[in-house]
Amino acid sequence: MTRPSTRRTVLATGAASTASALLVGCSKYGDENGGGDTEEAPSAAPSGTAGGAAPGGGGKELTKTADVPVGGGKILKDEKVVVTQPEKGGFKAFSAVCTHQGCVVANVSDGTINCTCHGSKFRIADGSVAGGPAPKPLPARRITVEGDSISLA
Ligand code: FES
Repeated sequence: MTRPSTRRTVLATGAASTASALLVGCSKYGDENGGGDTEEAPSAAPSGTAGGAAPGGGGKELTKTADVPVGGGKILKDEKVVVTQPEKGGFKAFSAVCTHQGCVVANVSDGTINCTCHGSKFRIADGSVAGGPAPKPLPARRITVEGDSISLA
């Protein structure tokens, strides 16, 4: 009874060894050919993307210059930014979050950025308070204008 079990053990071990040898052989090929590329590509792509977007959201296009009226502005609700053009060709940007209680401003008209939650108004030229309960100006946001494209700086 001892011998058969020994044989089984040997056979099983032999099979396992063969299987591991095959697996090792395969994994070596995988590592040399696909493994290196597979490891580098996913780690490089997401970190590159995150690295480009993370520091201040730099480079993300907000809008086109033609979409920002002279003497007015455009509110980008998703980015919480309002881009204004107080004078032709002179673009400014501010946070679109009202300094009163945090509503996103609703519209731009007659030279002011308007929050309809409680009626605050901010000047399109510098974000300063023109009326309402807001205690502070809208903070300026840095932008880059390249050609007809306006992006966060
Ligand atoms: Fe804008 Fe109150 S949150 S006026």
